Amino acid sequence: CGIVAIVSHAPVAPLIVDALKRLEYRGYDSAGVATVDQGALGRRRAEGKLINLERRLAAEPLDGSIGIGHTRWATHGVPNETNAHPHFSNGVAIVHNGIIENFAALRDELRRDGYAFSSQTDTEVVAHLVARELAKGIEPVAAAHNALRRLEGAFALAIMFEGDDNLIVGARNGPPLAIGHGNNEMFLGSDAIALAPFTDSITYLEDGDWVVVRRDEARIFDIDGQPVERTRQQSIGTSFLVDKGNHRHFMEKEIHQQPEVISHTLANYLDFTTNRAKPLNLPFDFAKVDRLAIAACGTAFLAGSVGKYWFERIAKLPVDIDIASEFRYREMPLSMRSAALFVSQSGETADTLASLRYCRKAGLPIGAIVNVRESTIARESNVVLPTLAGPEIGVASTKAFTCQLSVLASLVVNAAKARGMVDDAGEEQLVRELAEAPRLASQVLKLAPQLEALGRELAHYKHVLYLGRDTSYPLAVEGALKLKEISYIHAEGYAAGELKHGPIALIDESMPVIVIAPHDRVFEKTVSNMQEVAARGGKIILITDKRGAEHATVETLQTIVLPDMPEIVAPIIYALPIQMLAYYTAVFMGTDVDQPRNLAKSVTVE
Ligand code: G6P
Repeated sequence: CGIVAIVSHAPVAPLIVDALKRLEYRGYDSAGVATVDQGALGRRRAEGKLINLERRLAAEPLDGSIGIGHTRWATHGVPNETNAHPHFSNGVAIVHNGIIENFAALRDELRRDGYAFSSQTDTEVVAHLVARELAKGIEPVAAAHNALRRLEGAFALAIMFEGDDNLIVGARNGPPLAIGHGNNEMFLGSDAIALAPFTDSITYLEDGDWVVVRRDEARIFDIDGQPVERTRQQSIGTSFLVDKGNHRHFMEKEIHQQPEVISHTLANYLDFTTNRAKPLNLPFDFAKVDRLAIAACGTAFLAGSVGKYWFERIAKLPVDIDIASEFRYREMPLSMRSAALFVSQSGETADTLASLRYCRKAGLPIGAIVNVRESTIARESNVVLPTLAGPEIGVASTKAFTCQLSVLASLVVNAAKARGMVDDAGEEQLVRELAEAPRLASQVLKLAPQLEALGRELAHYKHVLYLGRDTSYPLAVEGALKLKEISYIHAEGYAAGELKHGPIALIDESMPVIVIAPHDRVFEKTVSNMQEVAARGGKIILITDKRGAEHATVETLQTIVLPDMPEIVAPIIYALPIQMLAYYTAVFMGTDVDQPRNLAKSVTVE
């Protein structure tokens, strides 16, 4: 979810909606705004995308120069209007990002005290808790503080009070919350980008902080109520909302930007005039670490999984790769001779952040591969290794993924060199091979007509299986993820060698099998697996290169032929046809490609 709060002089509802548009990446199940106008609380809420809230507000405008707003990714309670924020209780209005873990106990307690719940959310308990304090005659700031002390879990909150058009209380424990300092006006937002149109003067709250915001001041306290100082900084967040250009969807635009952004990203780490990796200022020495721990979620996890093959094969550096939600509770013994890497487009994913903090507490040096340089994960790392993908708006990650791979590949060259696994000539060779990536990506984009036609065909199936070996295995999983998240067709990605241990039972003519198989060291093995599929009447769609197409001795429904390319660039380039295939399938099916149902671009709860 994303939250925003504004204390100003002019009507704030339109400004809040503008800020919420920048936060829609955090969820779009429902949205709402509340203001205090002439002392009275008013609110408009709507199920679904922000546009619905905008329509509500156009029909029934909301006045008031102080307000709070919310865009929701549902955790507790279905995404309908009653569960939409802001939540009210007896003159208290509240928006919340996160999860109140002890909400059930608090709800029972409040019910016993006569408080009735109108939603199924965990948030409503906070509104009632504050209201109960007010009812005891306690003044608003102390009432909010008392309520905050009762909360367990992860939250960013903004609280507003009836009758007071110059007071908002904000709090942070987990999800980020930034204060924006204006000229006799004050802002709170889930990130600096949301506040970019209003101010670039930002203070980030730290965990456990809460803040009393008035037009002319923002006073920060710790949980015991002691004043604390946090540094104010200038944000580099851009106030422009990116547009789609000539493309139908952001996803299409972002797929097509890949030659350019891969090139920018690689050039940040590799010197193409000398064909050497640029020196990095790392908080650890690749030559001295004996393991690397990588944790991430979703597509970023799959980028890390490709990285594992590269680090181990090329730099002889063992890698433990984990899904961050598993890593954080796995209690894995961490070797003090290891370093940790976290991969995240947004830099805000709650599980990835928690894993980072776990490693930091253990004293490990930390690197973050992020696309948003001002994100929490970036700020809490020892070194930020940026992807230069530019803003990614489509919920399904495309260019961020190939840029993450580009950073990982560059790091691997560094690591291989530091560990003596490549000599100068070897390093030059790898850099020259990676330099091919942008050109190859452009060539692959030209396959669009063939992939579009194939997408139309794929749209008629209910299930699709993706297979690959080695670095093509995480790509198979990524292909399945892309397809299921935007087309809602059930898809699974498997290591080709695992086929015979289960999924082969599903093979018949109603289940297409997409095989990702460049002509590499494991190509022949994958061909054997294709034969197993063909022998059972399975329909094969093979994504390979020229040599692979010549040597695949299996009948396919269709073969997508990519140019021949060096092994190290293949995972970056093979990502494109699988993204395009998922995209065209979804477009043909008419789904909401950029904002698929139930998903959020950045998941800030665990
Ligand atoms: C969400 C997005 C995915 C993304 C994942 C991790 O699930 O829908 O596209 O891969 O989060 O996000 P991050 O920002 O950490 O890369």
